[in-house]
Amino acid sequence: MSEQRQLRLGTILHGASGNMSAWRHPAAIADASINFEFVKSTAQKAEEGKLDFLFVADSLYINEKSIPHFLNRFEPLTLLSALASLTTHLGLVGTLSTSYSEPFTVARQFASLDHLSHGRAGWNVVTSPLEGSAKNFSRDKHPEHALRYRIADEYLDVVKGLWDSWEEDAFIRDKASGKFFDANKLHTLNHHGDFFKVAGPLNISRTPQDRPIIFQAGASDDGKKLAARHADAIFTHHETLEEAQYFYRDVKSQLAAHGRRAEELHIFQGVSVIVGTDAQDVENQYQTTAALVSVEDALNYLGRYFEHHDFSQYELDAPFPDISDLGQNSFRSTTDEIKRNARERNLTLRQVALESATPRPRFSGTAQQVADGLQAWFESFAADGFIIQGGTPDTFPRFVDEVVPVLQARGLFRKEYPGTTLRESLGLSAPVNQFIQQ
Ligand SMILES: Cc1cc2nc3c(=O)[nH]c(=O)nc-3n(C[C@H](O)[C@H](O)[C@H](O)COP(=O)(O)O)c2cc1C
Repeated sequence: MSEQRQLRLGTILHGASGNMSAWRHPAAIADASINFEFVKSTAQKAEEGKLDFLFVADSLYINEKSIPHFLNRFEPLTLLSALASLTTHLGLVGTLSTSYSEPFTVARQFASLDHLSHGRAGWNVVTSPLEGSAKNFSRDKHPEHALRYRIADEYLDVVKGLWDSWEEDAFIRDKASGKFFDANKLHTLNHHGDFFKVAGPLNISRTPQDRPIIFQAGASDDGKKLAARHADAIFTHHETLEEAQYFYRDVKSQLAAHGRRAEELHIFQGVSVIVGTDAQDVENQYQTTAALVSVEDALNYLGRYFEHHDFSQYELDAPFPDISDLGQNSFRSTTDEIKRNARERNLTLRQVALESATPRPRFSGTAQQVADGLQAWFESFAADGFIIQGGTPDTFPRFVDEVVPVLQARGLFRKEYPGTTLRESLGLSAPVNQFIQQ
């Protein structure tokens, strides 16, 4: 790749920012997940730092053991629509599940967001890991992992087809002749597949970005295949540089089979960050936040990945229990990783739970040191960019004020937005309408 390769940066809303109990932190806004002023100030701070996007995660099932800020939070598209009128350049990326929604509705919703924001909409396509979601959507059973990905694949064909319903200049609105649209520029999908029958066309015009940006989060083999075929960006998470590099090479190598080039899909590593004056300050910040999480909290946090399995039944200081295939139908890539890590490092249940719930920040130290870490991963092709998660409620503004200028001074990150759309920020080319002969 050329020397012009540009680092990309987004940030994720995660409660008050920090671990699951960060709402108890002295600096935290305790109701951050439902506090629009907090969300607005985070978005505006991200825009001040010229970040590519704000990312909103989501889930469709809670119980009393869920992470506190999952119990009471905004629905992503509604939230992003409100932010659209308060920001001008920041990409607005929201999570929506292909397992519990209809493609026609979702195509409309993201097309609307793209129009409302003048070309800043992104959709994080997920297949929903939590089995309990079925109970909220009148289903008897949560679809099995492989089936969820087959549904998602067809779903994305349908949505992309609907987004191509209208050519860019289809709406003439000629008052004199009374011609509202050009019928030659209207295309009806007529999709009949294994899971969906959708006629189309979509009742909203082609969007400012031609179509919203597609993110994919899910790192199993099926997840990677889906991303290689459909996605503009992947949100993933790896512990070590080597694992991230392996994932990067693996996904990029799958693009050619779909006639795509490596730079058509950006790989974002989700990383937690703490910025401090020195190592001791960082350690104090980490310990203050980690101390808020009890072992019981940590067991619940771990259990959620494994279909809310009750880990309190096992001996805390014995080796991580044999739980067989549990997790295969939920957060598969994450649970495989947790089990492998526990086995290889011979960890106890207590260690696994606390490492999951109170992870040490991936990059920490002074602003220079955090920038060094990001630069090293970027330049060694472990990531095209990062989704920054503040390790404490204080971190994100500090990241923007202190780390972003270092990255800019090193020529790694831009000083101004290159345009107004998320597609322009990410340097992605416009897709061609599938109904137009080339
Ligand atoms: C980094 C990352 C972020 C994710 N974010 C979400 C999310 O916000 N909402 C959701 O329902 N699932 C989310 N998922 C879950 C995936 O969409 C997927 O359903 C699950 O991980 C199982 O797929 P996998 O085995 O391919 O990873 C995320 C997964 C990863 C790895």
